[in-house]
Amino acid sequence: MNKYIEKAERTHKLTEDELVSLLQNPSSSGELAISADRVRAKYVGSGIHLRGLIEFSNICRQNCLYCGLRRDNPKIERYRLSEAEILELAKKAKSYGYKTVVLQSGEDIYFSVKVLTNLLYKIKEMDLAITLSLGERSLDEYRAFKQAGADRYLLRIETTDKNLYEQLDPGMSFENRKSCLWNLKELGYEVGTGCLIGLPGQTLHSLAQDILFFQQLDADMIGIGPLIPNMDTPLAFAAKGDFDLTKKMVSLLRLLLPEANIPATTAMETLKADARVIILQAGANVVMPNVTEGDYRRKYALYPGKICVADTPAQCRCCIGGKIKSIGRYVAQDKGFRSHISTRSY
Ligand code: SAM
Ligand code: SF4
Ligand code: FES
Repeated sequence: MNKYIEKAERTHKLTEDELVSLLQNPSSSGELAISADRVRAKYVGSGIHLRGLIEFSNICRQNCLYCGLRRDNPKIERYRLSEAEILELAKKAKSYGYKTVVLQSGEDIYFSVKVLTNLLYKIKEMDLAITLSLGERSLDEYRAFKQAGADRYLLRIETTDKNLYEQLDPGMSFENRKSCLWNLKELGYEVGTGCLIGLPGQTLHSLAQDILFFQQLDADMIGIGPLIPNMDTPLAFAAKGDFDLTKKMVSLLRLLLPEANIPATTAMETLKADARVIILQAGANVVMPNVTEGDYRRKYALYPGKICVADTPAQCRCCIGGKIKSIGRYVAQDKGFRSHISTRSY
């Protein structure tokens, strides 16, 4: 076995240079996946957690250069679901057996503390775990959402390269992004973060630093995905993120953060058919099937070639259930909070 993979599986620690060496080694991918799959089985088991994703608004005040929801994109058809529509989708998510709903949107400030807490209380009555992914808010807002029942928060750091971050996310501050993550941690959320793979100017050293940052934060969830260039954004002609590099990153994340919840993300499947099945066997243990209905799926157009835009939530539930069974795994029946088997013994 490659000596760094052996070390990672045994100690869950690698230096930046060791990480870079594995990321650049063209033959490490298979061995990394096998090792990460073993660590996944040991620390988080064979259950796969399904989180029902509700894309409730594509209105955004930010202007990230890679994202189709950016405020300066005039081509996107904007929408915002009503409270009744969101509650209906949450109810359906529950009926498909999902134990968690992920409420995701652009940075849409219509969803004030008052509007959102009202909604959270009602969803909580359905006995669902709630993950929010609404972007940057103040400490007080995060506190109010937590008190109203939010359990988890997803906020990707996108890249730990400060200069690259501020270039790609104009008007946003890297320091503020980081302090949002620490605030969420402080408030007792399960914190999810992650990065984009294949940003123009991103280096392997920067990806290695991303992994070390997630370790330092002791992230409970890490969602990563390849950049998929969107023709309606300034990154229209950027190269797509590389699938194999994304897969290696997932495996390294599992090796270095053995207890984390790591999704096989939808963007990966835009690059390769059956990507989620491949990634679930390379360290991942979560899938986020879409429960958004009808034309809203298409309109939540972060990037082109998004999968499932013509499918119904029921079709997605059935499809993903079949894929999970086909690899000898099963759909977990609990809410899927992060396990703490070995906390800080590694
Ligand atoms: N607005 C919130 C935020 O930025 O945290 C949540 C929604 S945002 C659409 C969710 C994620 O989509 C971002 O964190 C980003 O990594 C990803 N994303 C945006 N544009 C993308 C693209 N062109 N390719 C792949 N992923 C993309
Ligand atoms: Fe808005 Fe999030 Fe897209 Fe940035 S990534 S433009 S914050 S939706
Ligand atoms: Fe949507 Fe396969 S997960 S159709």
